[in-house]
Amino acid sequence: MTVLRIQGGRPLVGEIDVPGSKNAALAILSSVLLTSGPTVLHNVPKVADTRVKTRLLEFFGAKVEWRGDSLHLDCSDVRLGHCDEEMVRSIRTSFYLLGPLLARIGRAVLPAPGGCKIGARPVDFHLRGLELLGAEVNLVAGYYAARTKGLKGAEIYLDFPSAGATQHLMAAAVLADGVTTIQNAAVEPECIVLAEFLNRMGARIEGAGTGTITITGVARLEGGEFRVPNDRLQAGTYLLAGAITGGKVTVRGIVPDTQAAVMNKLREGGASVEEGHDWITVSAPERLKGIRIKTMPYPGFPTDMQQPMCSVLTLAEGTSVVEETIYESRIGHIQELNRMGANIRLEGRSALIQGVDQLHGAVVESSDLRAGAALCIAALAAEGESIIKNVHFIDRGYEDIEGVLSSLGASIERLPSETAGASHIDPA
Ligand code: EPU
Repeated sequence: MTVLRIQGGRPLVGEIDVPGSKNAALAILSSVLLTSGPTVLHNVPKVADTRVKTRLLEFFGAKVEWRGDSLHLDCSDVRLGHCDEEMVRSIRTSFYLLGPLLARIGRAVLPAPGGCKIGARPVDFHLRGLELLGAEVNLVAGYYAARTKGLKGAEIYLDFPSAGATQHLMAAAVLADGVTTIQNAAVEPECIVLAEFLNRMGARIEGAGTGTITITGVARLEGGEFRVPNDRLQAGTYLLAGAITGGKVTVRGIVPDTQAAVMNKLREGGASVEEGHDWITVSAPERLKGIRIKTMPYPGFPTDMQQPMCSVLTLAEGTSVVEETIYESRIGHIQELNRMGANIRLEGRSALIQGVDQLHGAVVESSDLRAGAALCIAALAAEGESIIKNVHFIDRGYEDIEGVLSSLGASIERLPSETAGASHIDPA
């Protein structure tokens, strides 16, 4: 086990690139099971979740080889594999293999999915959609057992624009007989990327990025090459890290439109945000102003940035209100931020944040991926030393977080947990 030791109080300054998008890569790595020829994916982030996902693909007969940040895959021979239950339970998108497996071999057995513990995260939209497409799915002793005599085009309406259900059902419909429409589809950039990937391989998908997606079934998908775009969530996290430290950080190689909600909220709080064709620079004044935030499906304020943004607002002047509407328990950061001297009170699904003058270094624990990122951000601005535990959560979605932050001037290092403790605290 390792921890991150951060010495706070240094403004972050500099320019960085970010790796490929975890969530886009994970969606592509489910639907790649639909392809029958060699496929090369470039710019795949080397984070824990993509490593788990590639191991799962191997259980189902895929040949997988990492070459740098490129993945060479061959899914010509897909079979009904027996996958490691712990591995399936460790990531949410393991469940999105069900549809492609049904499409390729007509049956699938998968343990119920897991992922970060940020809410109940049911899979009812996925199940209803698969059933409409002609699959029979039963939950038996914690496993989903699914079979079909052949998927057929269907009209699917989602009760909520779920990113995962949109991606899963879009992929499941690609090889179905006939036309499928998904109404009230998610418009997340990762849904557009998945459609681009599938179309590059020979699928016929229209409307991705709008509320109605139409998929005309094709007989077969070939392989091909595709580059995963850079990660908007890692980019947003590092820009917020710059803002909380009163520094000036530029992230290159991104699409500024995908950051619009977060950047406009930073502007509202008094930060200066400049952007060009594929870069954003954020510089913050000594103290931001308190603001109100409500998480919404894209293009609303992303739930994934809610926790890092809370850290930034702990030091803003006045009161901020952050309402989480997507996940009922995405709150694991709050108690830990208070441990660092923040003043946050939870009322229903809203965090009421009374800005404080200073955060103080402390030993804190990540409870999930973005909570871990939020704690790193807070520690960068806190006075003194912080130890962040449960780094494995952060490693799920941030590639070499200590390397990136160090390159911006942070004092951060990864240590074995036994060498770091609370011994730095002087009880006097
Ligand atoms: N929902 C249902 N039933 C379903 C599916 C979803 O009720 O069948 C609900 C969820 O419980 C949640 C809401 O719909 O309240 C939205 O969930 P969605 O399906 O959109 O989320 P997801 O696909 O499970 C992805 C990302 C999350 C990100 C959300 C929202 C991946 C691997 N995960 O999750 O990313 O927060 O979309 O944009 O793509 C992260 O990266 O830290 C992360 C959690």
